[in-house]
Amino acid sequence: TSSVGFVGWRGMVGSVLMERMQDEGDFASINPVFFSTSNAGGRAPSFAEGAGALQDAYDIEALKKLPIIVTAQGGDYTKQVHPQLRAAGWDGLWIDAASTLRMNDDSIIVLDPVNRRVIDEGLASGVKDFVGGNCTVSCMLMGLGGLFRNNLVEWGTSMTYQAASGGGARHMRELLTQFGTLHREVAAELSDPASAILEIDRKVLAAQRGGVDATQFGVPLAGSLIPWIDADLGNGQSKEEWKAGVETNKILGTAAGAAIEPVVMDGLCVRIGAMRSHSQALTLKLREDLSVAEIEKLIDADNEWATVVPNEKQASMDRLTPVAASGTLEIPVGRIRKLEMGPQYISAFTVGDQLLWGAAEPLRRMLKIATG
Ligand code: HSE
Repeated sequence: TSSVGFVGWRGMVGSVLMERMQDEGDFASINPVFFSTSNAGGRAPSFAEGAGALQDAYDIEALKKLPIIVTAQGGDYTKQVHPQLRAAGWDGLWIDAASTLRMNDDSIIVLDPVNRRVIDEGLASGVKDFVGGNCTVSCMLMGLGGLFRNNLVEWGTSMTYQAASGGGARHMRELLTQFGTLHREVAAELSDPASAILEIDRKVLAAQRGGVDATQFGVPLAGSLIPWIDADLGNGQSKEEWKAGVETNKILGTAAGAAIEPVVMDGLCVRIGAMRSHSQALTLKLREDLSVAEIEKLIDADNEWATVVPNEKQASMDRLTPVAASGTLEIPVGRIRKLEMGPQYISAFTVGDQLLWGAAEPLRRMLKIATG
């Protein structure tokens, strides 16, 4: 059994990873060693009996002993520790949730239902750094892999509706606190059916503009939205938007003349007041004029998690929402229809749990691949 070091297992993504590993019985086939950035010497988690005391996550000598390290500690940790480890001669597998190493030439973005071939070739050729993709990109490719993997997409736009969890645990709390603040502001008026709605609206707006805590997001999200995610690249594009194009192509292993040709992906990324599932509205230009039935069949058949939702009102409302998708590995894909622009233009809408397929699950599966 392989020894595996875990760093950042107590954070939000790390906790989801630990839950999934327990659900799947993954700990039975590895020998886990838990690290901590703040509590070295403390007790290992109760779900891993006999794992020994927590080790110092900055102790290069201790980390070096492990053939595999899985981290969900975040980008700053990766930036600091990964180069030190490599400089010290460590040639183990580094499996990482953070974006730091994602676009390095010698790393692979892991999403095995979509790019198992890329992963296997990487392992065979000595690649050592395996990184989880951006959550929206991973969820989109899980949902629409049937089109992308069959070289059917010429270009696409992804207009996103991203949940608070993408910012982190504190962001989720802040969103809920804002909802509560706004409700308290007008609770009396709400309980009176005769109260004036415009007065309620005025009070809510006043609270949004003046009273709600927006420390994490910078501006109120409850009852509003934020049309910018991640850094400003200075060219009009946000970093989140840039990731859509570069990561999609890297995951698919596209190249001119290859089985999957380069795909142009771009769009706008928007934060909304959902909890943990990201949604996206897609416009795709296909390379061929396929019927909607053919498109649906390809999407449904691609992997066991992508599920076509009929393009009907009730089914869309019931099954194609963050509330429906959260906490599940299903990736519902709906609103599939031909657009007025022409027979090769389709719309689609997809939703995915940002903490599962968007973060923890590709890492969990990569660890399974690496440990046989
Ligand atoms: N950058 C994403 C977001 C989360 O802010 O929603 C991680 O991929």
